[in-house]
Amino acid sequence: MRHLLDIDDLSTDELVHLLDLAEKGPLPPVLDKQGVALIFEKPSARTRNATEMAVVQLGGHPITIRGEEIGLDTRESVEDVTRTLARYHAVLAARVFDHRTLERMVAVSSVPVVNLLSDVAHPMQALADVLTLRQEFGSLDGRTLAWVGDANNVCRSLTVAAGKLGMRVRVAPPVGYEFSDAELERMALAGARPEQLGRPEDAVDGADAVVTDTWVSMGQEAEASDRKKDFEGYTVDVELMRRAAPHAVFLHCLPAHRGEEVSHDVIDGPQSRVWVAAENRMHTARAVLSWLHTHAQGDSNA
Ligand code: CP
Ligand code: NVA
Repeated sequence: MRHLLDIDDLSTDELVHLLDLAEKGPLPPVLDKQGVALIFEKPSARTRNATEMAVVQLGGHPITIRGEEIGLDTRESVEDVTRTLARYHAVLAARVFDHRTLERMVAVSSVPVVNLLSDVAHPMQALADVLTLRQEFGSLDGRTLAWVGDANNVCRSLTVAAGKLGMRVRVAPPVGYEFSDAELERMALAGARPEQLGRPEDAVDGADAVVTDTWVSMGQEAEASDRKKDFEGYTVDVELMRRAAPHAVFLHCLPAHRGEEVSHDVIDGPQSRVWVAAENRMHTARAVLSWLHTHAQGDSNA
């Protein structure tokens, strides 16, 4: 049984295969009349809509469930919810506060489990981002990706995806928001060795892609005022983008906060590819669901 909790779960060949599959357009309706449960402990616009539409395009039926409806670990344990939902659905997908919840689901699930964002990782976003970059540049081997801001869940998954595809990754977080040594070791095992630089200017210098994310992720609202102070000077603006290669593109997983992590003239400007990446969330979700389900069928036929 294959699951997707982070990009580390994929070999480079599998990652490339998923990107190829995402670009194929219509895929066989492998989820014909089957359910996919989408559990959300946090809000979502792109992930819910992209994944629901991907399920529909594969002939299946998505059921979106808010965390409070099922009360994970309050009304019923994560394990009992998982065992129950796996009896109705071909795939279980979840957006959770604690990555460990996904690991507990994997431990008892009889169907594939997909991470729709946790505190640690956002693999479905990373797939859409690297697909967008591949559509822009062709091969990504030897290209440079600069991340400005928090070394967070989105950054982690994108770093591993980009690293597996041969990109150089430079990460510029403020002091206190870098990858830990343990995280760097885990990413190295997955094939990614990001360079951590203190100054955004050094990370962006000559880069092919510049990427950022919110300064305050979901679940960190209590830290908002400290974070906004700590991230001063980490706005991706036109002046910073001028240091990147002339053909450089800008990505942001969204939702964006214009005037904080990105200026409006960058996100709404000619180098921005944020809407292409948002659409690619649906194409990559379709590829992942089709691939995981086909693997699971193979396992049960074995
Ligand atoms: N990028 C992303 O995951 O967006 P949502 O939080 O709206 O799903
Ligand atoms: N880092 C952000 C990404 C939102 C899609 C968060 O976790 O809230």
